[in-house]
Amino acid sequence: MTLRSPRAQNSPPNLKFIETKTVPIDEAREVLASLTQDPPRLSPKYFYDSRGSELFEHITELPEYYLTRAEAEIFDLHLNDIAEALGSGDIIIEPGSGNCSKVQPLLERATPSAFVPIDIAGDFLWEAAATTALAHPDLSVTAIAADFTMDWNFTDKIPHGRRIVFYPGSTLGNFDPAAQRGFIQKLAKVVGAQGGILLGVDLHKESTVLQRAYDDAAGVTAAFNRNMLSVVNARTGSNFAPNSWQHQARYNTKLRRIEMELVAQSNQSVTIGGQTLAFAQGAVIRTEHSHKFTLENIRDLASAGGMTVTHHWLDRQSQFCLALLQTD
Ligand code: AVJ
Repeated sequence: MTLRSPRAQNSPPNLKFIETKTVPIDEAREVLASLTQDPPRLSPKYFYDSRGSELFEHITELPEYYLTRAEAEIFDLHLNDIAEALGSGDIIIEPGSGNCSKVQPLLERATPSAFVPIDIAGDFLWEAAATTALAHPDLSVTAIAADFTMDWNFTDKIPHGRRIVFYPGSTLGNFDPAAQRGFIQKLAKVVGAQGGILLGVDLHKESTVLQRAYDDAAGVTAAFNRNMLSVVNARTGSNFAPNSWQHQARYNTKLRRIEMELVAQSNQSVTIGGQTLAFAQGAVIRTEHSHKFTLENIRDLASAGGMTVTHHWLDRQSQFCLALLQTD
């Protein structure tokens, strides 16, 4: 772990920037392994190159994709209650903080003592953290460039006090149930006694509403899904033809998750890491699971981490839920 000296020179005094070493992985091998599973899969992490991030931002503004607006409405409606439940002087830790925009109402109203954004995109993180530090001169900002899905060997760099992990956006829904529990258990350890997790998740609802949110009329989600193949090509040297694959999104009511897939429009062969894979017309690659939650789900997850759901808030249409889990 090192401080980046060139940035540190014109860094706001209340910003500390920590960069962890990430172990490089052989993505061609990883992709080959997941494509030879049944069903063939690709990790949602391959959605997010700069075009993918732009497309996702566009998705959050679509009329069908209600999630982002519903979560923002919860903050509009309940900010005072949320701030009161948190108290003041907390350390707010945000894994996957991106542009740090979602946490702004909390920083303004809940008056934490420290903010710890964590993101894998180091340059982007520095910008966002520096902007936040300048806007809040009394807040101590410790930005950590790390892959929080791997390990939390940076935990000792997080200030001590009442730690609250802020994990909005239903990002937890990308994990399968066992991994959701594992992640909540991990966070419970990081926050420790008197700690909390402020968790935003999308709620289970009627299939048509959900399917429309993941298969919009303008075709933005389709472009987002297909872009994954361009990302995989760029990162592994493979030769997918993105336009020969069709977007598909279906709600699996039993498993309560959107299953996003790409369907081969013709027979395809793809070379990757020196190996050639054949996909017949109609073959599918699963690209994302987006799990939907019930309150009971959230309570079970909390108890898996030795925590209790002490508060929860909803938007006007009860589409989305912000829950505060606290250590027992
Ligand atoms: C960023 C994982 C929360 O599951 O709703 C949006 C990603 N995929 N449209 C979600 C996504 C298709 C999004 N998350």
